Amino acid sequence: MAKAKVKSIGTAVPPKVLSNFDLEKMVDTTNDWIVERTGIHQRHIAAPGVTTSDLSAEAALKALEAGGVSPADVDLIIVATITPDMYLPATACLVQDKIGSKKAWGFDMSIACSGFLYAMQVGGQFIQSGAHKNVVVIGVDVMSSIIDYTDRQTCIIFGDGGGAALLTATESDDEVGFIDFIHEVDGSGGDYLCLPAGGSKLPASHETVDQRKHFVHQEGKVVFKYATRKMPELCVKLLERNGLTGDDVDVFIPHQANLRIITSAVERLKMPMDRVVVNIDQFGNTTAGTLPLAIESAVQRGQLKKGDLVLMATVGAGFSAGAMLLRW
Ligand code: UT7
Repeated sequence: MAKAKVKSIGTAVPPKVLSNFDLEKMVDTTNDWIVERTGIHQRHIAAPGVTTSDLSAEAALKALEAGGVSPADVDLIIVATITPDMYLPATACLVQDKIGSKKAWGFDMSIACSGFLYAMQVGGQFIQSGAHKNVVVIGVDVMSSIIDYTDRQTCIIFGDGGGAALLTATESDDEVGFIDFIHEVDGSGGDYLCLPAGGSKLPASHETVDQRKHFVHQEGKVVFKYATRKMPELCVKLLERNGLTGDDVDVFIPHQANLRIITSAVERLKMPMDRVVVNIDQFGNTTAGTLPLAIESAVQRGQLKKGDLVLMATVGAGFSAGAMLLRW
């Protein structure tokens, strides 16, 4: 069986920046509180009319160009998002049309912050089975479309943007590629981070709009507790079953939800902070977008080099969580 690898990455963030100081004018908060409790200084926000498929197409085209693969040669497009352009059709279909990948099929995956990691695993299986040569995995969210900018506990963490990874098969003598993964969900946590209305449970009505039920509802403390427990737990489990420790990992790329969640995981993994990729200060929490954005930051900073052992981890709504090991 072939092994899957990330051949190239492309990202897309809207140009408009929403700083903590801008938020001070919108809700009862301060820059100091946001920085101290989350590590976030700013986030990017899409202009009205800019959609998940727009950012996804931009990121996908950059990834394809960087990987030297024509859009015409893409076999499969998977879009991880909880902010699709519309309920239907799938955003993957819109991206396929926008980038001109005429022979590609595709679908969306809705698993919030874990979306990109889960989609990487699913896309990787199509490479490993030999079914496909070029798979584009996208993690993008336009969170500003579902955030209540009167809810100070929630609106301060989220931002818009994300990226795409081009997956291909490794060469036979290649040392790089996907190694192992652990993904886990716990549906009993569903109510703590959800978008209450607009689905079959509470279809859109004047009442649901008046009650602001089309915005993300988050019980931050409960999610925080789950995240600080689950992220290191899955990482340790994955490392141990591969005969590794935190010391063997060259680069740790965690989901960027809150800097305090990242540092607590890093402490448990006994890893020096210089091996950890953090860009939450610039982008906030872009849900499915955080991991591709963090990969790109790591590459740009020279923090991620060919042959590095990479550990990625995520935790989010569902609850859902995951960890993945790969050689870059
Ligand atoms: O990626 C998806 C998964 N999501 C996450 O991983 C998010 C996990 N949760 C968190 O990151 C944090 O829980 C938050 C950043 C959302 C909130 O931080 P916290 O430290 O858990 O704050 P808290 O909700 O416990 O609130 C502490 C205090 C409260 O005041 P009192 O009751 O102690 O007087 C809040 O009302 O801070 C207050 N507060 C704020 N103050 C200023 C809450 N939000 C704000 C705010 N500005 N924006």
